[in-house]
Amino acid sequence: MDIPHIPVLLSETVDLYKKNMKDSGYFIDCTLGFGGHSEAILQNFPNIKLIGIDQDKEAMEFAKKRLSKFSNRIEFINKRASEALKELNGLNISGVLADIGVSSYQFDNKERGFTFDADTLDMRMNKDQKFSAYDVVNFYDRNQLEEILKKYAEERQFRKIADFIIKNRPINSNRELTDILHKAGIKDKKRMAPIFQAIRIEVNNELKELENILKNVEKLAQNGTILGIITFHSLEDRIVKNQFKEWAKKCICPPEAFKCECGGNHQKGIILTKKPIVATKEEIKSNPRSRSAKLRGFKFIKE
Ligand SMILES: C[S@@+](CC[C@H](N)C(=O)[O-])C[C@H]1O[C@@H](n2cnc3c(N)ncnc32)[C@H](O)[C@@H]1O
Repeated sequence: MDIPHIPVLLSETVDLYKKNMKDSGYFIDCTLGFGGHSEAILQNFPNIKLIGIDQDKEAMEFAKKRLSKFSNRIEFINKRASEALKELNGLNISGVLADIGVSSYQFDNKERGFTFDADTLDMRMNKDQKFSAYDVVNFYDRNQLEEILKKYAEERQFRKIADFIIKNRPINSNRELTDILHKAGIKDKKRMAPIFQAIRIEVNNELKELENILKNVEKLAQNGTILGIITFHSLEDRIVKNQFKEWAKKCICPPEAFKCECGGNHQKGIILTKKPIVATKEEIKSNPRSRSAKLRGFKFIKE
């Protein structure tokens, strides 16, 4: 079986759960993809049952075949993770993983419209969704375009690029968008990639989705639930870092309070990774997509 996606930080992720998670109950993989992380969890935790969620039907069909030998221990949900998590109340959940972002298959498959040379402007992870990169590029107003270029791509010439995009509409493909960016002076792929990534984040509402995943995991978590999140963008990592910090706080009094009046008993658990776990040089060499990956872990404690 040719596997179109290499899981990032695989041994580090398995290690996080091996050190902290019990081998019973349910493990929820919010971003099943091609099943690499799930397969490793199922192999290392023989008593765990797994729920694999992915909004991409193609990835899910592949993962179903790959994981068929575990079919009596696995269930699949083809939905957005934030939605799917709402259906999982009452389960004994030992672990949750979200490996946020797109898979190499989605990325490399020209038809899915993520690559610079794609003939479409698409970038949807879920092909049933109507809203695509075409809508962002052709219908967003100047402010909206500038906002995503500034915030998500951290592009200093956000005004000029938004202007080039607006003046060259309609834009029908990533190829055309690439040509327009060239004309705007963006020739280097390293500078172009964050612009494409910014459009992708907007199309898939990725930051809001991550926030909702965290909120819904908090509701489902039980004493001992281990949460691991892998991100690929600094804004995503910041969301995870700040949420884990909030959850780890005992006292939630405002900073200006002279003394604690909240009872000091608000801690939801402990941060398992003081600093994010990143890929080794060897991993980056064999899988360059791992270079921006960051893994953070949290253990919920509920009395
Ligand atoms: C980086 S890949 C995961 C790869 C997987 N860990 C593996 O080992 O094969 C991300 C996958 O998660 C899916 N995905 C990303 N965000 C999602 C979300 N909010 N809800 C459901 N699926 C999501 C994408 O469709 C993609 O297939």
